[in-house]
Amino acid sequence: DAGRLWGGRFAGGPSDAMFALSKSTQFDWRLALHDIAGSRAHARALHDAGLLDDAQAVAMDEGLVELARRVSAGEFVAAESDEDVHGALERGLKDVVGADLGGRLRAGRSRNDQIATLIRSYLRHEIRLISEDVEGVIDALATQAEANLGDVMPGRTHLQSAQPILLSHHLLAHAWPLVRDIGRLRDLDARLAVSPYGSAALAGTSLGLDPQLVARELGFADSVPNSIDGTAARDLIAEAAFVLAQIGVDLSRLSEDVILWCTAEFGFAKLDDAWSTGSSIMPQKKNPDVAELARGKAGRLIGNLTGLLATLKGLPLAYNRDLQEDKEPIFDGLDQLHILLPAVAGMVGTLTFDTERMREVAPKGFSLATDVADHLVRNAVPFAVAHEVAGETVRYCETRGITLQDLTADDLPSISAHLDPTVLEVLTVDGSVAARDGRGGTAPARVAEQIVELRSTVAGL
Ligand code: ARG
Repeated sequence: DAGRLWGGRFAGGPSDAMFALSKSTQFDWRLALHDIAGSRAHARALHDAGLLDDAQAVAMDEGLVELARRVSAGEFVAAESDEDVHGALERGLKDVVGADLGGRLRAGRSRNDQIATLIRSYLRHEIRLISEDVEGVIDALATQAEANLGDVMPGRTHLQSAQPILLSHHLLAHAWPLVRDIGRLRDLDARLAVSPYGSAALAGTSLGLDPQLVARELGFADSVPNSIDGTAARDLIAEAAFVLAQIGVDLSRLSEDVILWCTAEFGFAKLDDAWSTGSSIMPQKKNPDVAELARGKAGRLIGNLTGLLATLKGLPLAYNRDLQEDKEPIFDGLDQLHILLPAVAGMVGTLTFDTERMREVAPKGFSLATDVADHLVRNAVPFAVAHEVAGETVRYCETRGITLQDLTADDLPSISAHLDPTVLEVLTVDGSVAARDGRGGTAPARVAEQIVELRSTVAGL
């Protein structure tokens, strides 16, 4: 049968519904070029083991190169009758080199070690592309941070006014998790660079093939130390799904801030026309759809991860067909992020900020109260006392309907004997941010340094 890799012990072919259930070319065809690369390496191992003579090895390699060309050009594609990418490619190879030579390639390997290797080499390639897309978002955040350096905004905890911060500091706080995500992808790559080829079905190969040779040919650092683990493990796929989900979550948190900032009530930011949509009924609307889709896709990416973990949790060793279900979730995750990341980079890069409005709101909600307490501590007052005094200062203002900045020297004695008029000098937003000048703090000089550190960290990844 065309494209079926088994059949000798079967009197008839599979029923239509069995075949439809089993069939995977609709999603595993994307692995075709990686499969061919694996086959070229495997053919070299067969040659080394004396299972292909010199002429056969040359013809096999040329045949596989030609097959790769046909696949890339779209001249050879999986047929309806092909069960999976492996069967389809064997059919295609036989078209090129003939049935005798084409039928020799499968010796000493199984689709089990084949697929386990392919998915690793495919992921190694794909996560590099994802890392580049993530860098695009980091760059957009860093560029906005540079452009708005010195602009202040209200910093929040519990979504309540906390302390004034620099807008740049806040933007960079969304960049660092993405830097760590790229680091996670780099770490994962080192674990993915171990080739299961040579594990065969589960027990290893009896044909004297050298798994290390295949590993080297494929650009892997090593071959697996255990053939059962090599064919049965999918923890690396789950780890990839986790990092994709984490990237989704990081984009979602950034997006939630953007969505809030673009409301009339916040009024901190405006979306560029190219990165927002309108309403079919409400003419005034400008909707943050990029950010909303980022939030939505984060849920989908989490679902891909949890679905995959659920597939794995009850599986006995070694290979089980359930493992075929690893592909669609991870492919979907990669596809979604390839669409999403450039859109998020575009949205962030074109945001315009109402820095006047942010400055006006920054001291609201008594966000300078900590500065009162810190001032007292600098004057040798114990922090517990300073905290009380600052709290009383807030209460004093609140009952009179004034802000901390409205206080005059005349108010101070009736609040606390600890307060002297020098406290009034620290009650400014710019003074508050400038004072937070330890490493990692929101002081403009520190944030300028941070941008440089971010850029060099990304360059060094
Ligand atoms: N398509 C399978 C997968 O994705 C690989 C083939 C292994 N099939 C088998 N019957 N041993 O996991």
